[in-house]
Amino acid sequence: MEPRFVDIHSHVVPSGDDGVQAVSEGLALGHDAFEHGTRLLYATPHVSPALPLTDDRERRIREAFAKLRGLAPLELRLGFELTPMPSLLAEDPWRYVLEQTNHVLVEIPFLGSADLFIDVGEWIEHAGLTPIVAHPERTDAVLTNPALADELAERGWLLQVNASSLLGRHTPEMEREGWRLIDDGLAALIASDGHRATRPMLLDGAYELTRARVGEEQALRLFDGSALGLAAPTATGQPAESATR
Ligand SMILES: [Fe+2]
Repeated sequence: MEPRFVDIHSHVVPSGDDGVQAVSEGLALGHDAFEHGTRLLYATPHVSPALPLTDDRERRIREAFAKLRGLAPLELRLGFELTPMPSLLAEDPWRYVLEQTNHVLVEIPFLGSADLFIDVGEWIEHAGLTPIVAHPERTDAVLTNPALADELAERGWLLQVNASSLLGRHTPEMEREGWRLIDDGLAALIASDGHRATRPMLLDGAYELTRARVGEEQALRLFDGSALGLAAPTATGQPAESATR
């Protein structure tokens, strides 16, 4: 069967962050993702202390998103990737939800403690939503204390490993920890975190490695959005699962 990937983490919409800088660039990368098996792609612009979601920035993001969605060959949905910051705690987490899910994507800071991250995750939970933990395998907090990843998974928070980590595009430690999360059954899903042509939003390479390692059934669950109750639409408009089983 041909995989129908759901990619819940990318920087495919120009937003003033370090992702794509123009709709045309996002469109080219969206075509590339489609050709490599992705059918549902979330644009998740960074929201961080350096780049908060002001009303003006949100308006520009939504305009660029609407343009790209009208042109892209795959289904595009909007969400955000939160970097923990105290100001979030005074807001409503529903503002940042991944469209048509009950999940909010939040990263553990690359450096330093995970304390504020835990506060933000609980703030998400108290609103009746579930945090998705972006690339735990890339963070100091998990690399120096892998038990933290186990604790987060026990809370029911979804651990999202980057495809690029599994492909060894970051560091050997991150690659090893990424596979550890999969081998131990802690990872709920794999996403691209694609930013640009040199760091694209492709999943097929990591899917093949994962399938060889854990088998097709388990690999599919990590790539088809089932952790969020999503199923990528097929060409006929039917959910991929019912169309192929
Ligand atoms: Fe990201």
